[in-house]
Amino acid sequence: MARTPVLAGNWKMFKTVQQTVQFFDEFKHLVAGAAGREIVLCPPFPALAAASEAVRGTSIQIGAQNLHWEAEGAFTGEVSAGMLLGCGCSHVIIGHSERRQYFGETDATVAKRVDAALAAGLTPIVCVGETLEEREASRTEDVLATQFSGGLGHLSSESFGKILIAYEPVWAIGTGKTATPEMAGDAHAFLRAKAAETFGAEAAAGVRILYGGSVKPNNVKGLMEREDIDGGLVGGASLDPESFAAIVRFDS
Ligand code: 13P
Repeated sequence: MARTPVLAGNWKMFKTVQQTVQFFDEFKHLVAGAAGREIVLCPPFPALAAASEAVRGTSIQIGAQNLHWEAEGAFTGEVSAGMLLGCGCSHVIIGHSERRQYFGETDATVAKRVDAALAAGLTPIVCVGETLEEREASRTEDVLATQFSGGLGHLSSESFGKILIAYEPVWAIGTGKTATPEMAGDAHAFLRAKAAETFGAEAAAGVRILYGGSVKPNNVKGLMEREDIDGGLVGGASLDPESFAAIVRFDS
């Protein structure tokens, strides 16, 4: 089954509203005509509405970096799926390793957020990945299996068909140490096998698995050549319009 590549940018805690508008002024021209791929940018909450406005009339999509599972309530500092929809979002990153590491995110809360996103019609980009310590202890597959089952195992095959998975080895994030295409390809193949075991062959063949961790214009092509790598979730290199456009145009 042909899977359309997805190139997504996670801006983390970077860019004001003004810087966001400036980015899209440049970026949208650089990727005009880049067909056969989906482009998603995930700015911080305050810039979401401006980003959606800036990409109006293009095929660029906007995502958030987190959401709460309740629709509304006394949850200071949180935002709901409905609020993200109201800002023009179509996607939302869930369970990023920085959320797991610094903000107590667990597989159980990932599962709740995934449900809330799907119920609202948002596409969750669900992040999984091992730490260096876990990789060195040969625990990568155990960790991926646990995160997969805990965050996604409860879904129906139909719901599973609506999500994106991002494999982001923690040791490769922001370190300049990219997983080799072989390492990433192996992890992706493992996740696809898990998907087949849990949701069936068809769902597994359709799910898109993005790689994240020091994706740059000069290494994206090698990663994208791997059978099981369907896109990238890009941090640092998505902040600059030219470098992210080069990543979006990985095959040209
Ligand atoms: P870097 O591309 O900066 O390594 O970040 C990856 C990431 O965490 C994307 O979600």
